[in-house]
Amino acid sequence: MMKKTDLDTGKMDLDYKHTLTFISPEEVDVLYPEAVRALKNLRERKTAGSEFLGWLDLPLRMGEVELLRMERTAVRLRKLAKITIVVGIGGSYLGSKAVIDMLSPNFGCEEEAEVIFAGYNLGEDYMYELLAYLEDRDFNLCVISKSGTTTEPAVAFRFFRELLERKYSKKATEHIVAVTDEHRGMLHDMAVREGYETFVVPDDVGGRYSVLSAVGLLPVAVAGYDIREIVKGAADMRNDIFNGKNDAALKYACVRNALYRKGFCVEILANFHPKLHFLAEWWKQLFGESEGKEGKGIFPATADFTTDLHSIGQYIQEGRRMLMETVVSVEKTGCRLFIPFDTEDADGLNYMGGKRIDEVNKMAELGTRIAHKEGGVPNMSIKMPALTPYHIGRLFYFFEIACGISGQLSGVNPFDQPGVEAYKKNMFALLGKPGYEEESERLKKNAFYE
Ligand code: PA5
Repeated sequence: MMKKTDLDTGKMDLDYKHTLTFISPEEVDVLYPEAVRALKNLRERKTAGSEFLGWLDLPLRMGEVELLRMERTAVRLRKLAKITIVVGIGGSYLGSKAVIDMLSPNFGCEEEAEVIFAGYNLGEDYMYELLAYLEDRDFNLCVISKSGTTTEPAVAFRFFRELLERKYSKKATEHIVAVTDEHRGMLHDMAVREGYETFVVPDDVGGRYSVLSAVGLLPVAVAGYDIREIVKGAADMRNDIFNGKNDAALKYACVRNALYRKGFCVEILANFHPKLHFLAEWWKQLFGESEGKEGKGIFPATADFTTDLHSIGQYIQEGRRMLMETVVSVEKTGCRLFIPFDTEDADGLNYMGGKRIDEVNKMAELGTRIAHKEGGVPNMSIKMPALTPYHIGRLFYFFEIACGISGQLSGVNPFDQPGVEAYKKNMFALLGKPGYEEESERLKKNAFYE
């Protein structure tokens, strides 16, 4: 049996007892030395894809100069306009969207600064409505693309650039900040030519591992949140993992892989906190792009509870038995709200009277975990003390390390994403992009055009 650490006690980050009727502790133990080796491989840059391991040190590399420049740019942009449009897709938007959602109030958050994301879809209505919204408003643009060539953000950038130039003519440049490659790419070239302020996506950091670089941090700073605490949280988690003080990421990787080997091939990342929806989207991209290749990989799915207990809850409880579940559990809420007593008790809720809503939510969480376990869904929980920048930083680093280890346990390169090119090739051929004539012929021959 694996050595108990403080992670197995009250202070723990990971609770996997509800998996242990599906896998034995020995099955986890067997993987543990492999996970330790995988962590060592990461540290020694000895994994496949080792040229993309710069994210491991981002919390240390993110020094005072870069942080200060981001904070100053954020202040400068907010003085220019309350609204900032962040253009990016995949790893170039999910992390910052997740943080901003976790830290913002649910309502009225746009009073100081309004950060709106775009360029992560090709929805014509989305773009039209956003352009219409911006027509009579001041706004800035933060365009994020490592490659600088991704279609969705490039198309969006063209529209917003045009609108900014129409509004501010030569001064439009002041409203634009680009986050991209240091040396190459269309966005980089354009930024140099037009004189946009730029931040760099380091060469050795892949998109989905870039949340702790300017990619993830600049929009958060623009929204007015503390990026230093995020970096500090990540740096502390890095220390704890590398110094052997916290092995929850290793255990998480081992448990999910042990379950995968037993046929549990879908993992649902669930939450009981509405602000965590985009954290799960970020996680889904991280694990999906890192592990889903060569016919292998745990399929990452997400669920917002209790909401989804009234939709896919039925499937989770009684559908095909291939699901495992990981609940990100937030221990402390930001506010306190007690359910009132009612003299009539017409709705029969007085048994909850005087209890906090979060008490009810926590019982829903526990009840769900027990029900899912009894229904054949092994589940774990990852505990987050509170939704603060510091703990968010810790959680990001935790998942990134777990993913880098987990990919190695299933024998894939967790740092490439060859499969994402397939749809692009077809789309470019169908749109008649120069250079895609051969692909276009192939599609025609196979009568895919109808
Ligand atoms: O993880 C990845 O590499 C991708 O999901 C990218 O983040 C995404 O495709 C956006 O790429 P780019 O930043 O080059 O526009």
